[in-house]
Amino acid sequence: MIDQATIDRIRDAAQITEVVSDFVTLRRRGVNYVGLCPFHADKSPSFYVSPAKNICKCFACGSGGSPVNFIMQHEQLDYFDALRYLAGKYHIEIRERELTDEEKAARSDRESLFIVNHWAQRYFTEQLWAQAEEASSVGLRYFLERGFRPDTIRKFQLGYSPDERDALYKKAIQSGYRQEFLEKTGLIIAYENGKVSDRFRARVMFPVHTLSGKVVAFGGRILRKDDKAAKYMNSPESEIYHKGKELYGLFLAKGAIVKADRCYLVEGYTDVISMHQAGIENVVASSGTALTLLQIRLLRRFTENITVLYDGDAAGIKAALRGIDLLLEEGLNVKVALLPDGEDPDSFARSRNATEFAEFIRRNETDFIRFKTRLLLADAANDPLGRAALINDVIRTIALIPDGILRALYIRECSSMMDIGESDLLEKVNRIRLSREEKRPAALPAAPPAALPAALPESSPAPPASPFEAEELALLRYVVRYGERILYRYVEEDTNQEVRIYVAEYIRSELEQDEMTFLNPLYRKMLEEASAHCREEGFVASKYFLYHAEALVGQTATDLISEKYQLSRYHTRYREIKREEDLLLQLVPRDLLGFKDACVRQKITAIGRRIKELQESGDWEQVIPLMREQDDLNVIKKNLNKMIGERIILKM
Ligand code: CTP
Ligand code: MN
Repeated sequence: MIDQATIDRIRDAAQITEVVSDFVTLRRRGVNYVGLCPFHADKSPSFYVSPAKNICKCFACGSGGSPVNFIMQHEQLDYFDALRYLAGKYHIEIRERELTDEEKAARSDRESLFIVNHWAQRYFTEQLWAQAEEASSVGLRYFLERGFRPDTIRKFQLGYSPDERDALYKKAIQSGYRQEFLEKTGLIIAYENGKVSDRFRARVMFPVHTLSGKVVAFGGRILRKDDKAAKYMNSPESEIYHKGKELYGLFLAKGAIVKADRCYLVEGYTDVISMHQAGIENVVASSGTALTLLQIRLLRRFTENITVLYDGDAAGIKAALRGIDLLLEEGLNVKVALLPDGEDPDSFARSRNATEFAEFIRRNETDFIRFKTRLLLADAANDPLGRAALINDVIRTIALIPDGILRALYIRECSSMMDIGESDLLEKVNRIRLSREEKRPAALPAAPPAALPAALPESSPAPPASPFEAEELALLRYVVRYGERILYRYVEEDTNQEVRIYVAEYIRSELEQDEMTFLNPLYRKMLEEASAHCREEGFVASKYFLYHAEALVGQTATDLISEKYQLSRYHTRYREIKREEDLLLQLVPRDLLGFKDACVRQKITAIGRRIKELQESGDWEQVIPLMREQDDLNVIKKNLNKMIGERIILKM
């Protein structure tokens, strides 16, 4: 335990700007500093650091606090480990208070496992450097021959496990470590007959660190190619080690990842180490397996931009394709850079410096979808069946991307690469998203609200979406296709200002004036959204709906935009052919009248039925107001009919 005096000293020493600027580039703004928030995808600086108050705060996502809070959040440490981190930074000696017996007993297994691993790491390192002078240290010679510099070897805490049956075990027991924990970390293997042996023998050792730098596991590599033994021996899963949760190198890379706002993803331990040595530190390894969701979420705390680096040979390309769907699905931006055939990041980094390596990546990285499309296209060049499969494959990948705008960009791009209509691609992507959503029960839309306006047909059983489905769809079609267009404009007399009326807004306000609305809740929602957004700069209703987060909306929009709802072209008096979009000022009001007319008729019929019922039961008092209402509606109906008639005569 850290005593209170030490805690106070750490708190006094830690300066918020110094602590934060290890991870965030700060710029002065008045008495404060600002930078991009490391806790969310910040586009413009929202992260404020106040030296006077010694706190930081993100005005967009709300995270921040004291230097200790910042380190807790950023490094994912608990309170005491954050204090230890700061003590290290400010060279404050921590006097750990002697544990009481109770505290000792309460010390969890987890902690004991970490302690044993920490000891083992130092043991392996000692073994590596022992006899360094006599050059009889085979482990060290191996690393040096591979081109690892001594400072690199130290930085990664590399080690060596001696070629003996139980050297580590003996030493550990001698030093007072319990067999139980040696077994649980997997450092030793205990057999039924009571014999014990070390797991790692005659291997160079790569410790695997958690985000906060604790050793959770080891990988041990044999020195020479050997067909009988696996190249790598790894620690088994344990209470503290879950393979799918750790990323090799992240502990040493996180600062550089935040700074570069990008992370390179490679396969192996040696790739990470060589790249560091070449000066590229924003790199982690998946350790030869496909990435897991947990690893991706971990990475995501530091950046959303990933560049996958693999060999240029067939196996490397396959590896690049594998597991990337999951990155896309989690909303990360994925690029791929293939190294020249026969090179892996390790060998490549050894023959280049950081600038050359970075330049190579810059010139060769391609975004993942483009990469995949090009690759598959080349494969399917003379094979129509293969081509169809390819298109589906790419479409499925695009459909994984959660962000609608990004999806739109990829669809456009792939449409030109594969020479397929953009709207066809879009429709396919939306169908896939829809079917995925249907498969996911939790994501199913809630039951539509059944609230119907007062005067409408009394509760029919299992109500259809709307009795005016066709009329509603006709209007919604304009909303989706042309919602953001200006239907007409006029100059307001009082203010002399031009007023613009947009299609979506017009339809909504016209309905509102007559206290009408779409009965289909989905259509109603779409109308509301379009009219809320239609004045926004750059808003395009069709795009907005096609890439909507709700698949049902996207599907409806797809239907309304696709050709099957394309109306015929219109002939004017002069027999020229006009496009629908040039006739909106006539078509939209016409269909509005059609909808209103259908509504009014429906209401009249419903009221008529109600009146009849009341008459039969002799309830005359209630009949009279209903009859009055019916009269009013009939007047409206007549007017509507007149307007519709006029429009037909005058305009069409
Ligand atoms: N790996 C493993 N077990 C194996 C082979 C590989 O755990 N039998 C993991 C290791 O994490 C390794 C990574 O997969 O780092 C990549 O494998 P590979 O490219 O074969 O290893 P390198 O680390 O590149 O080793 P080297 O360059 O020394 O061959
Ligand atoms: Mn390698």
